Amino acid sequence: MSAATKTRLDVVPLSRHIGAEIRGIDLREKPDDETIKAIYQAWLDHLVIIFPEQKLSQEDLVRVTNYFGEQGMPRRPPKFFPKGYSSLLPGIMLISNIRENGEPIGALPDGEMMFHHDMIHSEKPDKATLLYSVEIPSSGGNTLFASGYAAYDTLDPSIRNKLDGRMARHHYNYGSVVKGDQKGTEAFGECLHPVFRTHDDTGRKAVYVNRLMTIGVEGMGQTEAEPLLEAVFDHAEKPEFVYEHVWRLGDLLLWDNRCSSHARRDFPSTERRLMLRTTVKGAARPY
Ligand SMILES: [Fe+2]
Repeated sequence: MSAATKTRLDVVPLSRHIGAEIRGIDLREKPDDETIKAIYQAWLDHLVIIFPEQKLSQEDLVRVTNYFGEQGMPRRPPKFFPKGYSSLLPGIMLISNIRENGEPIGALPDGEMMFHHDMIHSEKPDKATLLYSVEIPSSGGNTLFASGYAAYDTLDPSIRNKLDGRMARHHYNYGSVVKGDQKGTEAFGECLHPVFRTHDDTGRKAVYVNRLMTIGVEGMGQTEAEPLLEAVFDHAEKPEFVYEHVWRLGDLLLWDNRCSSHARRDFPSTERRLMLRTTVKGAARPY
């Protein structure tokens, strides 16, 4: 292949605004640099990318994570491991409802989970999250992804003008799936970020507030802020801006927390769900 030949990826969009499947790549092999660049560009274009039918080791997952930036480190290692795992590489988290010795091994509370941006309640939220499916329930547990770009571009100008240039306050009790529920732990994070965020790779603006974690707008009373935020949440979660992913074994998903939010459907708590999760660190404070 000559240097001028462009790497061609088999990228299949899954909805109008968000989500694409990248076919024909086995991530056990390191792609060449041109292909990695093309994958990164496909991710910027589609916000969420899916690599189906992967058979990844933990080392493979860590290597792939590093194609997208510096890997983040999880808050805490698991207390117990499920069958087949005696240890985890640094930076890999278990997302699971499986219980060993009566305690859940991974951070996965039951129930439907509201739309959110991962770690928006921290100063430098993760840029990306990767999730690799190892065990899935027979039904349910779908992940929904919403494009913050599409929501921003089509937001009612009268709402957008009131919130433009303002900062939103985010609060998260770890483990909560619905704002203010009893599933959260005592540990929480809180932070201010722009209501509309500029993406540091694409320069595009995206809605950067969500129903699970956003609790107010700086310099605005709650009676004014709450209905405005509710209107933005309702708009951002409209089906036309959303792709709903039905998990298959061996799916590797990568999503962009700078310009998309996600939610999870409920699944039978009697069935096992096990995912490996890694993150990519954000480069800067959101602006
Ligand atoms: Fe999440």
